[in-house]
Amino acid sequence: MKLWGGRFTKETNQLVHNFNASLSFDQKFYKQDILGSIAHVTMLEKQKILTTDEKETIIGGLKSILEDIESGKLEFTAEHEDIHSFVEAHLIERVGDPGKKLHTGRSRNDQVALDMKLYTRDEIVELNDLLKELLVTIHRIMKENVDTFMPGFTHLQKAQPVTLAHHFGAYFEMFRRDRSRLRDIYDRMNYCPLGAGALAGTTYPLDRDYTASLLNFDGPTLNSMDSVSDRDYLIELLSALSTIMMHLSRFCEEIIVWNSNEYQFVDIDYSYSTGSSIMPQKKNPDIAELIRGKTGRVYGALISMLTTMKGIPLAYNKDMQEDKEFTFDAIDTVKGCISLFNGMIDTMKFKKENMETSAKNGFTNATDAADYLVNHGVPFRDAHGIIGQLVLLCIEKNISLDELSLEDYKKISPVFEEDIYDAISMKTCVEKRNTIGAPGREAMMKVLAINEKYLMES
Ligand code: ARG
Repeated sequence: MKLWGGRFTKETNQLVHNFNASLSFDQKFYKQDILGSIAHVTMLEKQKILTTDEKETIIGGLKSILEDIESGKLEFTAEHEDIHSFVEAHLIERVGDPGKKLHTGRSRNDQVALDMKLYTRDEIVELNDLLKELLVTIHRIMKENVDTFMPGFTHLQKAQPVTLAHHFGAYFEMFRRDRSRLRDIYDRMNYCPLGAGALAGTTYPLDRDYTASLLNFDGPTLNSMDSVSDRDYLIELLSALSTIMMHLSRFCEEIIVWNSNEYQFVDIDYSYSTGSSIMPQKKNPDIAELIRGKTGRVYGALISMLTTMKGIPLAYNKDMQEDKEFTFDAIDTVKGCISLFNGMIDTMKFKKENMETSAKNGFTNATDAADYLVNHGVPFRDAHGIIGQLVLLCIEKNISLDELSLEDYKKISPVFEEDIYDAISMKTCVEKRNTIGAPGREAMMKVLAINEKYLMES
């Protein structure tokens, strides 16, 4: 049944119906559609546009439709164009004439704008909760690894020693920012478009403030043309989701490298690994790879949305129906990826000894050795050169700086004394880095306390 058959003299071509229809995907927000209608009808009655009886009959019908969809009794069937037509047709079938008044003072343009906002808002809350769970896991791993030394890298070359807590702490910051981005989007989008009508408002005395407050918005939107054609919040959301995926993907890349036979810094649990059909020895990090791979799909949604919007004149145009499938897919993808990633790192084992050995073997204390000379009056540039020579000597001998004899040290510079060994020990190198944000224990404990407070409060 069509909502708009009045002026038509012919049936719609079947292919046109199929091409135009959105029910197969916008059924995802049936609940938001019905809750939006209940708020609309409640407002219409308050404004005396509907009688109390009509309101109650309509709300009763809408609630029974909601129940029947949820229990599986009522199925979505393809003759309906979209979720809005589906609900309205079933309402009229169930309650008769009062059902025909549901759409008073409303258009599908402001209705769909509302539904999508309500749906997105609910999903933002879920995404925020999932990120919180991930941060709790990262925080636990950080707390347990304040003294787990590992190499810090630049150019994927060993650079200076850090700790596992410090490395994970970098991701804590990223995901915390991701949460705050979601919060910003929520606050900016939280204005109710219902009442904008098709594009120019309506002549009915709607109370838009009231509808907005019934649906927990901060107020009504202020321009009816913008209300029905604004999809900025989806672009912002897809951008935030892309950033989350970029963070997850970088983390996955590191875990894949750390889990490789060459590194052996971590061991991904059996329950989060997969095998090979031909090579019996294999235990592969497929989950991390898939999360890395799905990043492209979420970026794709952002670019699709931006491209869809770029040439649309005001106000509503059917192009906008395209906003749904890739947004839904991106949201579902990101939710799945965060949960799986969380489970993977929560069960992952850290091979702390390998990490420490790797940090020791990579001359990660060379800067500290140079600093030792500087502390004994050698200008930094000279110190840099001296340590460079010592590193070369160590490479020739295939040993680390800690293993070089004092005699060898002294041959290159007489400034070295026995205390050089203490000055370049892994522990000293890390412990001395105690400015806020650095890996030293004291600094790390301060950051952990800040993070703990953040997790308790938000
Ligand atoms: N299914 C449509 C969408 O998702 C609903 C709005 C239809 N409005 C219209 N004027 N055809 O955008």
